Amino acid sequence: MDLIGKTALITGAYRGIGRACAEVLARAGAQVIATDIAAEAPDYAVPGIRYHRLDVADEAGWSALEADLRRDGTPVDVLVTAAGIAPTKAAPHDVTLADWDVILGVNQTGVLLGMRLATRLMLGRGPLSIVNISSIWGQVGGMGQIAYHASKGAVINMTRNAAVTYAKDGIRANVICPGLIDTEMVRVQPPQMNAATLALTPMGRIGLPEEVAKAVLFLASDASSFVTGAVLPVDGGFTAQ
Ligand SMILES: NC(=O)c1ccc[n+]([C@@H]2O[C@H](COP(=O)([O-])OP(=O)(O)OC[C@H]3O[C@@H](n4cnc5c(N)ncnc54)[C@H](O)[C@@H]3O)[C@@H](O)[C@H]2O)c1
Repeated sequence: MDLIGKTALITGAYRGIGRACAEVLARAGAQVIATDIAAEAPDYAVPGIRYHRLDVADEAGWSALEADLRRDGTPVDVLVTAAGIAPTKAAPHDVTLADWDVILGVNQTGVLLGMRLATRLMLGRGPLSIVNISSIWGQVGGMGQIAYHASKGAVINMTRNAAVTYAKDGIRANVICPGLIDTEMVRVQPPQMNAATLALTPMGRIGLPEEVAKAVLFLASDASSFVTGAVLPVDGGFTAQ
């Protein structure tokens, strides 16, 4: 599997799963445009990764990026939407609309704006492979975190919508649903919350960001040329139960 000659645009690529995607796709030969809300690029383990500051919830930021890409004639052959936040654990009875809007803004609208940019650039020019990052919590119910779970469920059906809408245009869209993965997002959560998810994970261990990134590489590459609208769990068996 390689991405030689392809350009991959990745959101949330400063750390965690997005960063692993940037490095794995760059190693596979892609020209990677890594984006994140963080001001500065991290010290990537692979040379040649281009960094662009982008808040995925900011429409103007996407428009500026689109203008840059058009000006330079840079295609987006692969889009990976890894930016995501889970700042509150609020349940339906105590979630504030302010928190709801912020979480949906990043996790759901951010994915829409990414797909909008990539499809606008590539329609009629394709092919394009979109790989969105949802979660096990977009597939099954869990306690609390109503806004996060809502946003992740939406990403799954937004992906299916794009898959069907663009099936004849050489544009594929698939979604990965990670289980518990060893990143900062998980490290800052209450340990008992992670222990509960781990206890329900048949493989009995936490996943690594690189294990998600390798699945992203499969869906990004021509190795998955007849795969679109797929919901791929990378969860140690969590949703197989
Ligand atoms: N870690 C897990 O267990 C797990 C499980 C399922 C799904 N996910 C999803 O995987 C994705 C990556 O999460 P992670 O675990 O690597 O978390 P993380 O917190 O380590 O990384 C998230 C990245 O997104 C960036 N980001 C946050 N808000 C942004 C914004 N508005 N615009 C652009 N970038 C922004 C952060 O700066 C960070 O680099 C998220 O969508 C998350 O919901 C994670």
